[in-house]
Amino acid sequence: MDETQAGVLNTIEDLVGSIKHKPGALLPILHSIQDHFGYIPDPAIGVIASHLRCTEADVHGVISFYHYFRSQKPGRYVIEVCRAEACQAQGGREFEQYVRDKLNIGFDQTTPSQDISLKAVYCLGNCATGPSIRVGDDIKGRMNPAKFDRLVDELTTFKLELK
Ligand code: FES
Repeated sequence: MDETQAGVLNTIEDLVGSIKHKPGALLPILHSIQDHFGYIPDPAIGVIASHLRCTEADVHGVISFYHYFRSQKPGRYVIEVCRAEACQAQGGREFEQYVRDKLNIGFDQTTPSQDISLKAVYCLGNCATGPSIRVGDDIKGRMNPAKFDRLVDELTTFKLELK
């Protein structure tokens, strides 16, 4: 979402203000901010700390503890690659290496074109047909280099809208 700096701050203030009175508000606030922006923008840290009367280090600590939260704006597409055992037993390690080599990035990184971010996940509930990945809401099984190449071509060439 493209917003001006003032707009970003206003939105963060609104989101924090609407949730801060709930018990255990920090996690719901972080979820709500990430749902809105796709990540937790830096200015959110100070706003949250001030509303919840805690330190910015406290907020940082929670964000970095949970892998789910992102501090950097993700690429247009986030590809989640399963690294759990069942997928590894079906060639997941080699596939994962191929993915990183092909995109020339590691997990939690984004291609220079800002098209694709990579994220490691640990089971997508698709264990019987690994290696598995998820793009948007779509879980894809029996992945291999050729299928991955096609997927990347489709995403980067046609800029598909994903659910
Ligand atoms: S282990 Fe990969 S989907 Fe379950």
